[in-house]
Amino acid sequence: MQTIDNLNEGVGFAHGKIILIGEHAVVYGHDAIAWPLTASQVKTVARRASLTQIHSALYQGSLMNAPEYLKEFVIKLQAALHLPEISLTITSDLPLGAGLGSSAAIAGSITEACFSLSQQPLSLDDRLKWIHIFETSVHGNPSGVDGMMTSTHSPIVFNKTKGFQTIQTPIKGYLAIAHSQIFGSTKEAVALVARYVQLEGNQSMQTLGRLASQAKLFLTQGNLVGLGHLMTSVQTILKQVGVSHTQVDTMVNDALQAGALGAKLTGGGLGGCVIALFERESDALALCQRWKDKGYSPGWVLHLHHG
Ligand code: PMV
Repeated sequence: MQTIDNLNEGVGFAHGKIILIGEHAVVYGHDAIAWPLTASQVKTVARRASLTQIHSALYQGSLMNAPEYLKEFVIKLQAALHLPEISLTITSDLPLGAGLGSSAAIAGSITEACFSLSQQPLSLDDRLKWIHIFETSVHGNPSGVDGMMTSTHSPIVFNKTKGFQTIQTPIKGYLAIAHSQIFGSTKEAVALVARYVQLEGNQSMQTLGRLASQAKLFLTQGNLVGLGHLMTSVQTILKQVGVSHTQVDTMVNDALQAGALGAKLTGGGLGGCVIALFERESDALALCQRWKDKGYSPGWVLHLHHG
């Protein structure tokens, strides 16, 4: 039943994501393997108001003075949905610039909240279309993997031309995830890779694509050790391409010394988060504690199983 409250309020949710293998190469048409980070939450509440305004950790105030990408996006949504003045309250436990898909999650939750407020159904395609608009102004050339992963609850193999496929895996592994405290710009990272590819050719991207195919196989076979090796190989290539960071390299070394089966950056890089694979949850938790003791900010331990 419609109540006055739900006529005047729309709520939208999204969560973060991690890319296990395939960041950057996915922009060049290769597969990426990604997991939703459903333990994280981004929430937007949209309410009718006398003046359009944003309340968030990133920005507080009238829409007119909001960062350009946010302003443009909300104005477009309001026009498409015939929404008059609104207030948007955004809460998120995802750090920005961490490679965890925070901008796609914010866009997805705003979209859902606005559709809900205007009482219009929101299809997955429409949600992804709106996230794409936001992501394009935030980082230029999005593959679409973040939009998909922050909107779905299943791990997937994502390809920007072939679409996506849900992963079924017998694997029982744990990923320790922590933030280097270096905030990387995905836009800069994507541009840096584009320059690298222009100068050096796209061999690195092809190798990353091959590693992603191999990872798909290891996931179906339940080969956790093989998967770990692939993650570390991916890190070597991402470092060569220039999107790692000394702090990230230190965290990767810490993880390998702690017995991780593999470790790498996740997402755009130039800082951001590191993921490290373990067979046992207790080992993943122990690494998170070690990282914490060294001043990094541990985020989550993610169970990789999905059958
Ligand atoms: O840094 P994030 O969470 O926005 O992840 C970006 C992933 C890239 O492959 C680098 C870019 C993309 O659009 O796929």
